[in-house]
Amino acid sequence: MRLPLLSLLTAGVLAQYSDPGACSGDCWAHDPGFYQRVSDGRYFRYSTGAGIYIHSSESLEGPWEAAGQALPGGSSVNHAGSTNLWAPDIHYEEATDLYYMYYSISTLGSRDSVIGVATSSDLAANWTDHGALFTSAEGGSYNAIDANWASIGGSPVLTFGSYWNGIHQLPLSGPLSLADGATPTQIAYNSSGNHAIEAGFIFYRRGWYYLTFSSGRAGSYDTNPPAQGQEYRIVVCRSAEGTGDFVDKTGASCLTEDGGTTILASHGDVYGPGGQGVFEDSSRGWVLYYHYANPTIGLSTADYQFGWNVLQWADGWPSV
Ligand SMILES: *[C@@H]1O[C@H](CO)[C@@H](O)[C@H](O)[C@H]1NC(C)=O
Ligand SMILES: *[C@@H]1O[C@H](CO)[C@@H](O)[C@H](O)[C@H]1NC(C)=O
Repeated sequence: MRLPLLSLLTAGVLAQYSDPGACSGDCWAHDPGFYQRVSDGRYFRYSTGAGIYIHSSESLEGPWEAAGQALPGGSSVNHAGSTNLWAPDIHYEEATDLYYMYYSISTLGSRDSVIGVATSSDLAANWTDHGALFTSAEGGSYNAIDANWASIGGSPVLTFGSYWNGIHQLPLSGPLSLADGATPTQIAYNSSGNHAIEAGFIFYRRGWYYLTFSSGRAGSYDTNPPAQGQEYRIVVCRSAEGTGDFVDKTGASCLTEDGGTTILASHGDVYGPGGQGVFEDSSRGWVLYYHYANPTIGLSTADYQFGWNVLQWADGWPSV
């Protein structure tokens, strides 16, 4: 009886995460931005792949259809990588009745980077570029990529950053401009290894600001696989103010104590989940979306799949 019991227990431990929700049609995603259109509830997904590719669907489960590119000619910013835009982040503002897309321009391993912004009235393939919002320089202490907009205490804030000194925040005066004298504040950092945290994303629920980020290595899973457990996973911290003092479930600081509670890591056919965000779905409640590699499909970024799960909540902490 020992062996069956042991395998049952092992299976129980491995099955700690729910499988991704259903997806049909074109389910490719890479560092997805995501939004549910205000006018009709249609879902839009934006992925990184030598440009920003748009997919849309009437249902979260699909069928997802390809809908061209946002900024097909690249960004108007004159910078290396300006036709290879990364990590789109989408939000809507009622005051202007417009959708805003923050995107990044960089090259792998460089801190000479730009966060740009574009607008659209309908989320479809009709984006207008407004160029650079914020830049970082080689040798500086932060990297201006992986932008995420959030309203914190009623003020607009841009969260950004990758590797080096981790994740930072910058106050905005509006969706297209920085606040006067804005300087970045560091909000999350991993002091060990090569400081591999990125893709910060903030959302607010019931008195807490949640910071999610991707920890570990994002890619080259097919050509240069990371050691087991060093691939992307999704981590969460929370804070009452939203502009600092983020801690994990054990109370460890996510800035000074390498804190961060894992909410989704490799399991089953899901490998290296990351590039995540969270939105409040009109029918399902809080939903985590992300990309992952399914080893039965392929490990290259061109094969990454769109994943989503309804979040479960206990004591103000989300889980999948
Ligand atoms: C595209 O955007 C422009 C400017 O906002 C607008 O005038 C035009 O109607 C839009 N086209 C479509 C197809 O939505
Ligand atoms: C910090 O980095 C180390 C080394 O790569 C890793 O083992 C650890 O899980 C990371 N922690 C977080 C919260 O990202």
